[in-house]
Amino acid sequence: MSTHAAVPADPRQAPTRDLIAHILERYHATHRRDLAEAVRLATEVEHEQSCPQGLVDLLMLISDDLEDHQQKEEVVLFPRMLAGSPDVLAGPIARMHLDHADLAAQFETLRLLTEGFTVPAGASESWRALYALCARIEADLTAHVELEEGVLFRRFVAAPPI
Ligand SMILES: [Fe+2]
Ligand SMILES: [Fe+2]
Repeated sequence: MSTHAAVPADPRQAPTRDLIAHILERYHATHRRDLAEAVRLATEVEHEQSCPQGLVDLLMLISDDLEDHQQKEEVVLFPRMLAGSPDVLAGPIARMHLDHADLAAQFETLRLLTEGFTVPAGASESWRALYALCARIEADLTAHVELEEGVLFRRFVAAPPI
């Protein structure tokens, strides 16, 4: 699947092929790079005094679950969307809703663990970089999910009964 896409000026108007290519490039690829860097930074920072314990484990869990989720979209859902088979998409889309909710819950846990990504006075440069990166990943994930749930998936589910 191509990962080259211009950013659609208005995603709601973009053809499905362009919208999917944009999601892959802007969000899936970025999440992979950023989560790998976050795990690396957390591994460095976790030994520092007063750093919350469990950061590495939680970020690895998020990274694994997000990878699993993105693979399902890339291997199953998006190709079916591009093949134009909306009648078989209700199940996979429902599954993606559940994944999105699980990921949001994991970020809630991350926020609790890090006190809303707040670094203490005197925190190292790596620690500051880690929390700034976590906040960026969270913002990206929110935008990513809003684009999928609010625009893309709606093209493939029946309108709710009036
Ligand atoms: Fe996605
Ligand atoms: Fe998704």
